[in-house]
Amino acid sequence: MPIPESFLEELNSRTDIVDLVSSYVALSKKGNKYWGLCPFHSEKTASFSVSPDRQMYYCFGCHKGGGAINFVMEVEGLGFVDAVDVLAKRAGLQMPETTSGDGSTRKKRERLLALNKEAARWFHANLSKPGAADGVDYFQKRALTKRTITRFGLGYAPEGWDNLIRAMAEKGYEKADLMDAGLAVKNSNGRIYDRFRHRVMFPIIDVRGNVIGFGGRVLDDSKPKYLNSPDTLVFNKSRNLFALNIAKKTKLGKLILTEGYMDTIALHQAGFDCAVASLGTSLTEDHVKLISNCTKEVIISYDGDQAGINAAQRAIGLLEKSGIEVKVLRVTGAKDPDEFIKTYGPAAFGQLLEGSTNHNEYQLNQIKAKYDLTQDDQRVDYLKEAAAFVARLDSPVEREVYGTRAAEAAGLTPAAMAEEVKRLRTQRRRKARRQEERRALSPAQESQPAERSLRYQNVPSARAEEGVIHLLMLDSENFQYASALQPEHFSSPALGKVFGLLRDKWEKGQVCTMASLSANLTPEEMSLLARIQEKPVSVANGERAMADYITAIRRQRSADTDDALMAFRKSKLSNGGTTE
Ligand code: UTP
Ligand code: MN
Repeated sequence: MPIPESFLEELNSRTDIVDLVSSYVALSKKGNKYWGLCPFHSEKTASFSVSPDRQMYYCFGCHKGGGAINFVMEVEGLGFVDAVDVLAKRAGLQMPETTSGDGSTRKKRERLLALNKEAARWFHANLSKPGAADGVDYFQKRALTKRTITRFGLGYAPEGWDNLIRAMAEKGYEKADLMDAGLAVKNSNGRIYDRFRHRVMFPIIDVRGNVIGFGGRVLDDSKPKYLNSPDTLVFNKSRNLFALNIAKKTKLGKLILTEGYMDTIALHQAGFDCAVASLGTSLTEDHVKLISNCTKEVIISYDGDQAGINAAQRAIGLLEKSGIEVKVLRVTGAKDPDEFIKTYGPAAFGQLLEGSTNHNEYQLNQIKAKYDLTQDDQRVDYLKEAAAFVARLDSPVEREVYGTRAAEAAGLTPAAMAEEVKRLRTQRRRKARRQEERRALSPAQESQPAERSLRYQNVPSARAEEGVIHLLMLDSENFQYASALQPEHFSSPALGKVFGLLRDKWEKGQVCTMASLSANLTPEEMSLLARIQEKPVSVANGERAMADYITAIRRQRSADTDDALMAFRKSKLSNGGTTE
């Protein structure tokens, strides 16, 4: 196995989890913990905690937890060895040489990034070679300046089946590398050829400056219009935004979210250097996390068609949820921002930007547009839908303002609207209370681990097992009271595994901290372990508590055995033809 225990111990002793997490999340101290907004799920109030004494983090909202290494794995999307590598660099330690699977993944990733960079250079250089007139003409037709082309590193993939493959071979890359990078594809006959041919090329660069993928546009009307890199070891389109590497440095204090490469580039060229685009996908939670690391204000500037309107609705919901202030810009008189700027110029776009509406107003306008408000029955339906929207607003002031506005827009009295809103809110409160009661009535459900695969078969026993683990994590001296217990006595395999690991460490005289366990437990198991340690316990008497837990585990085990015996007898009886 890969990294020596002693190295991990050294690394853990040099890493302070509060320090580490602070570089990703704004933390503030309350009691003996630090709190902040969880980087792993969208939230407005802090439920993410870091405890310096146990060197662990735990989110009370999404139940993710673990030590420093887990944090880096989760937040950077890395494997164990790669995360250790990140922390080692941070602590100024030299990584021990390993030949593990993860280590080779890291090498592979570096190789793909280097290849992507070479390919991007080559595509770009093509623009100044003879034979690239098509590409150059195309950018000219789209009114891109030389400066813009350079800034975005745009390029051209010429006609032919293997131009890139041959150019990269000279740099030492094999066809297999190009396939891994999504730059080459294999057909059913086994022939390998360039993915991007006779297209203008848009490199996709992440916030650290790595070229992670490409989009390639046709020069005419053929299909598909844009071809994008597939997901690879270094590229995931739902986790990256085009031009964020540039936009994150903007002085404008916000981001403009567009649908397309060309919209974003046109905006930058017009001086709006805060534009980004999601890459041929709708906005995801991962995108939102990425955005909220950069800014607290987003202006959605999608296409004016129905698809753009629907996509904006979705995006509003996602962005709002994470506390970002959202505005929506309506492009009128052109199909998209790129065309708008080309037709009316940058100053006109600046005015659109100024006039971009608050998203609540935007959504009410969308609702209004669905109804013919000269018809009485439609006005009733409008009132209902608008009221449902207003009722969902958290702030009473907002409900007052938008409720009144929505009513007046349809020639209705604000009182009628207010009454409908009040009715809906009462209904909602009742429903929430019923749900709350239902949850309170099924405590077994609540005590289950968040991760499905770790679900407890025997909840009463698992609770006691959790208690055992908790006592041992608090003080490994409690092992002296647990000598009767074996890993196989645990009803939960995961907890049995943790128990075995802790016992090994204790017997060898090693420390039993969260950090020391992450090499041997999955992220899900670490999260469970973090959760256990956040449960309240009374530990006045470790010996007494341990004895109670062990008794409970025994009792459940023998009950299980009795059940199994009963089931066995029953099946015998029915096989014998006896009816009950
Ligand atoms: P659009 O069809 O709106 O194209 O797609 P566009 O941005 O206006 O492109 P131009 O101006 O004609 O060059 C919006 C985005 O959807 C993705 C691309 O990211 C594009 O920028 N897309 C579109 C694809 O990935 N594949 C396609 O075939 C089409
Ligand atoms: Mn366009």
